[in-house]
Amino acid sequence: MNSLQNLREVMRRDRVFDFMLQTTGLEVDLSHGTILYLEDVSVSFDGFKAINDLNLYIDAGELRCIIGPNGAGKTTMMDIITGKTRPDKGSAFFGQNINLLHLNEAEIAQAGIGRKFQKPTVFEFHTVFENLELSMAGDKRVWQTFRARMEGSQLDRISNVLEIIGLQECHHKLAGSLSHGQKQWLEIGMLLMQNPKLLLVDEPVAGMTHQEMERTAELLTSLAGEHTVVVVEHDMDFVRSIARKVTVLHQGSVLAEGSMDEVQNDRRVVEVYLGE
Ligand SMILES: Nc1ncnc2c1ncn2[C@@H]1O[C@H](COP(=O)(O)OP(=O)(O)OP(=O)(O)O)[C@@H](O)[C@H]1O
Ligand SMILES: [Mg+2]
Repeated sequence: MNSLQNLREVMRRDRVFDFMLQTTGLEVDLSHGTILYLEDVSVSFDGFKAINDLNLYIDAGELRCIIGPNGAGKTTMMDIITGKTRPDKGSAFFGQNINLLHLNEAEIAQAGIGRKFQKPTVFEFHTVFENLELSMAGDKRVWQTFRARMEGSQLDRISNVLEIIGLQECHHKLAGSLSHGQKQWLEIGMLLMQNPKLLLVDEPVAGMTHQEMERTAELLTSLAGEHTVVVVEHDMDFVRSIARKVTVLHQGSVLAEGSMDEVQNDRRVVEVYLGE
């Protein structure tokens, strides 16, 4: 089939809108070096301010750790970034140009923000390889008519991601047979298949063995640079092992920000969190 026929084929399908969305989707503008702006953001649940005038800026390519006591608003902050929760006030921008408050969850994911929840949600009865393949499903539906041409590059992408997450040897195994840590890495791999610019990772090492934690530290560190990674985690040994800049959330706003040493020696941080 020549490219004109390909195009006709695509235009005839009733999913033309998806196609348009994929190719004309907003490209995040990182020209100022900042990938995420949260400004004066507040949200209340039944009168309780879970997020309270929060200001947070993340640089493109950063690996940022967010810590803070239970109920500080860490997960709620991620809910706001991903469109799951709408703030009562404030603004949320992805790069210079994408107003996150104007997009729904699917559009935000498509714009390049991927989120990993604490509990792995891999397809247990599919192989590792298939899990990665399935996470491209959105693209595949759109690109079906270009399949022959795409297949080679898709395979390359899958083997590249298998290498990044260290599961090459397990590619044929059922996801259900993996260890807890391996499932977490697979899920990170599934996110990577969508090629997100910003990755939000909530409590990645809960329930992991020490070795798995070390491997996860390496993985997340290796992703920074090309991607921007925001990690929420309570395990201070883990945070210390990956931390560059740390933000401490408390009662829905930023209590302190700086290097691990700086926040660890901050009297207010010790009082509300580390001194527990
Ligand atoms: N959808 C919701 N409805 C009502 N209250 C909520 C909702 N989401 C969060 N909250 C409340 O907002 C506060 C902040 O919760 P959040 O889950 O963001 O904290 P967290 O910092 O992630 O805590 P943890 O470290 O325990 O995960 C909590 O008091 C929580 O009960
Ligand atoms: Mg949480």
